[in-house]
Amino acid sequence: MIDLSGRTLVLTGAAGGIGSAIARLFRRAGARMLLADRAAPATLAVALDPTGEQVAAVACDVTDTASVQDMVAEAVARFSRIDIVVPNAGVFPDAALEGMTDTAWRECLAVNLDGTMAVCRAALPHMGHGGSIVTIASVAGHRGSRGHVHYAAAKGAVLSFTRSIASELAPRGIRANAVSPGVIGTAMVTGLMAERGEAILAQTPLRRLGRAEEVAGAVLFLASDLASFVTGETLHVNGGLYMHS
Ligand SMILES: NC(=O)c1ccc[n+]([C@@H]2O[C@H](COP(=O)([O-])OP(=O)(O)OC[C@H]3O[C@@H](n4cnc5c(N)ncnc54)[C@H](O)[C@@H]3O)[C@@H](O)[C@H]2O)c1
Repeated sequence: MIDLSGRTLVLTGAAGGIGSAIARLFRRAGARMLLADRAAPATLAVALDPTGEQVAAVACDVTDTASVQDMVAEAVARFSRIDIVVPNAGVFPDAALEGMTDTAWRECLAVNLDGTMAVCRAALPHMGHGGSIVTIASVAGHRGSRGHVHYAAAKGAVLSFTRSIASELAPRGIRANAVSPGVIGTAMVTGLMAERGEAILAQTPLRRLGRAEEVAGAVLFLASDLASFVTGETLHVNGGLYMHS
């Protein structure tokens, strides 16, 4: 039902749990895509498109503006346009406020917030009417996360960044929305689940972790024309965890 044939996706953090699920789902919907991560996700790209015509992989550090610009230039060189941007790269370090170093604070915001801005900014000149940006926030950005104050602050800022660009870009026919996952079963939350997994599941009405594919489905909806009148919104994917906060 969702057909993204002829549309180009730029996806960061593509080697990760949620990123690779997004890549697989968008490929099934027919999208062409540039997959970016700190190391080029080449194996995933070949698995999705052995011809190399529809899917490309590049190394990109989203904290490095020049690296982001090179990544976007590669997408434009290969596919000549960008229709959908998903700045999904993220890190989830442990650090309470007491003992927080300047470096730890800066590094977390550099990936989760600055990286999101840099990818959107670089892609924007190559996007036109009908374009869609889907940022990846977190339930932590809404309700906070003890032991991860920098991460929660960055994700809260991603939410307001997304609403702001939705307003700025609406006159150009470009939409911007956020997907806000709860606790999803990827490598990112191994430590969190070991520390307080039982409590998290007890607070989650659906009584399980989310699957990366369930986040990807929300991203696909918001990126597609099914959501053509949806902008500046946040779609929660959390099994009811936020409702029960
Ligand atoms: N897993 C969860 O429970 C959860 C919950 C809420 C939000 N999120 C968000 O979803 C997104 C994906 O997370 P995930 O669960 O797939 O985690 P993951 O660790 O599996 O994937 C994150 C990916 O981002 C990449 N990355 C990190 N720093 C980068 C950088 N500087 N440049 C380029 N790439 C970089 C990593 O290499 C990795 O492939 C993140 O933005 C994360 O904050 C995840």
